[in-house]
Amino acid sequence: MAIESSVPSNGSATNGQTTGKEVKYLPTEHYKPFFSKVENDLKLTPIRNLLPLEATPGVISLLAGKPNESMFPFTSISFTATSPHDLTKEVTGSVTPSNLTEALQYGPTAGLGRMNNWLVGLQERVHKRKMGEGWRTTVGVGSQDLVFKAVLMLLNHGDAILIESPAYAGMIPVFASLHCDQVEVETDSKGVNPESIRKLLDNWPAGKPKPKLLYTVPYGGNPAGMTTATERRREILVLAREHNFLILEDDPYYWMYYSDDERPPSYFQLELEQPEVGRVLRFDSFSKIISAGMRFGFASGPKAIIDAIDVQTGSSNLQPSSLIQAIVLALVEPWGYDGFETFTRNVSNFYKTKRDIFEKALRQHLGDVAEWSTPESGLFFWVKLVLKPHGDGESDSDDLISTKAFQNGVIALPGTVFLPNGRKSAYVRMAFSLLPEESVHEALKRLRDVIVKERGGL
Ligand SMILES: Cc1ncc(COP(=O)(O)O)c(C=O)c1O
Repeated sequence: MAIESSVPSNGSATNGQTTGKEVKYLPTEHYKPFFSKVENDLKLTPIRNLLPLEATPGVISLLAGKPNESMFPFTSISFTATSPHDLTKEVTGSVTPSNLTEALQYGPTAGLGRMNNWLVGLQERVHKRKMGEGWRTTVGVGSQDLVFKAVLMLLNHGDAILIESPAYAGMIPVFASLHCDQVEVETDSKGVNPESIRKLLDNWPAGKPKPKLLYTVPYGGNPAGMTTATERRREILVLAREHNFLILEDDPYYWMYYSDDERPPSYFQLELEQPEVGRVLRFDSFSKIISAGMRFGFASGPKAIIDAIDVQTGSSNLQPSSLIQAIVLALVEPWGYDGFETFTRNVSNFYKTKRDIFEKALRQHLGDVAEWSTPESGLFFWVKLVLKPHGDGESDSDDLISTKAFQNGVIALPGTVFLPNGRKSAYVRMAFSLLPEESVHEALKRLRDVIVKERGGL
């Protein structure tokens, strides 16, 4: 599969120079059995395929139907933004004239070279991964765009996948539409339980193809707010090797970590402890920290899979917005990686305060009719409603939340929508990110009224 790429990858099977220790990575052939029929059939469009050749010195291009930038009406783009070090202060930024030309024009399928270089530097710093270990990055229109494209390139109808339960409701319909066999993996307050995976796979029916992948949200899981503990991550990586599955690490909440304990390393980092790397496909998002409306996310992982994602991009939306990337770069390059990390710490502190305010209100209004664990990351409380006064039997929050709570002026998501196989659930997901304190109290008071009524008293 020919593919344009603005990101270097040495294509060899080991990397001894950059990390000091030899990092082996899985060869391209390893991924062949993972790819779907769509991946096998879809080819990069001829124009996108040839576009990188325009950069060949001395070549005159008559190739792409690029509009003439001189006719675009934008002549400058500048902005003010909060300082990464002090959210009460403002700094100014701008897209320089030469970067503006690039920003307004068609660009590389994987995103701007400068953008990918910055992201690679970030991954090297944050996840201790080095170039030359068989991975690269690609930019998407939010991380959802890239997760969606990845699963389309990996899964055929009927394929089994492992999915943490409860799971992000934004992906369950995608897996359902691909007619996947969504095999639920147990979770608790420490995240995904590797024992549950081991039991499932040790007892997997003979002759039935094993799951191709595990889908998990490792920090502040959506909806349950759990963060998978380091030792569990290690065990899951061992299982991925034993049973040959990929780990789709969908991590939009990575930068929002509230615990005083050291944060667990990502799967992408921890796989360096394995005999070889290449089983983790990581998705990052700037939605929760820089802007959700910008639609900026990126994937990091085995080159063969990232190439396949880019083939999808080349056929669907051609490329992520160059203008958005130019604005992101104009913001984060002057910050530097230090500034970026300082900024994300400030963002985390903000949400930690929001979480604490929400939890105090939860205790006040629902303390006697609900149970929950404090989320260490993310934006949600995952609250189990005690709908029967004696707590006996399995109850379901669906009608209460979807209908009665809404009629009483409060809206939230019932637990059942986060269960891949749509079972009943007594849980409700509540976002603590946005509301001012008075509205939190009002919302929880309204919810309490409905719960108490449903129980027929306390
Ligand atoms: C687990 C998870 N994955 C992906 C997304 C989508 O993120 P993005 O805005 O980067 O597309 C979300 C958004 O809420 C999410 O919670």
